[in-house]
Amino acid sequence: MSMKWTVYRDYAAMSRAAAAVIAVQVRAKAASVLGLATGSTPIGTYQELVRMHREDGLDFSLVNTYNLDEYLGLPPDNPQSYSHFMWHHLFGQINIDPERVHIPSGQPEDVNRACRDYDRAIEAAGGIDLQLLGIGRNGHIGFNEPDFYLRTETHLVALTEDTIAANARFFSRPEEVPRSAITMGVGTIMKARHILLLASGADKADVVARMIEGPVTTEVPASILQMHPQVTVLLDEAAAGILMEDERRRRREDQA
Ligand code: F6R
Repeated sequence: MSMKWTVYRDYAAMSRAAAAVIAVQVRAKAASVLGLATGSTPIGTYQELVRMHREDGLDFSLVNTYNLDEYLGLPPDNPQSYSHFMWHHLFGQINIDPERVHIPSGQPEDVNRACRDYDRAIEAAGGIDLQLLGIGRNGHIGFNEPDFYLRTETHLVALTEDTIAANARFFSRPEEVPRSAITMGVGTIMKARHILLLASGADKADVVARMIEGPVTTEVPASILQMHPQVTVLLDEAAAGILMEDERRRRREDQA
């Protein structure tokens, strides 16, 4: 099964297209279940959804959301928490019902139970209609990092030393930097009926090509999306650089 991908001129155009896909979903089913992501990639999409809410009356009042991940140990009001990110960039600016917002708790009493409950809640809500994803430069989706195996269900992950070091700049003291996180597993993600993956910038070009054209391997967790029946990949030109080059080469070879 080959993954369909579409290239946009730049980040803004890609973000508008992503928001349009989400808006189609929400208009078709007012009580849609959306899986959402944090990171720099979806910020433009969220801005466009906020605009659509304000100017076009896009209604989120019945929408249910489940976020991919959260740092362990951070309360929701910590500015580095993914909960804070979501309220800042999206939830605080649209008419979503706070009761319908779900983000893994960064401070669960019992981590395993909280993970199990998260997957059960998604199932009880009828499953995810549309899952928004970014992709890490190493091919991770959520916090499912390259490894010898992938976990299917929502679970606790120890962050790599690289990730911890990269995050340190956001915290005033080293001991505040989270060392683990809770993430949906790849099974939870793969159960979504439609997956919308976004990638922007030249530093994603290599991993985007490996995700789409390479073998399905746990070394590139996003490559498992090749096995999903409905994935929409939206890219800006920089992120699609290697794919487009490969396509040009194939065309030249066909003509030769
Ligand atoms: C975010 C998440 C991550 C990011 C990925 C890309 O909730 O789970 O997998 O999608 O790290 O991050 P950015 O968009 O910052 O490049």
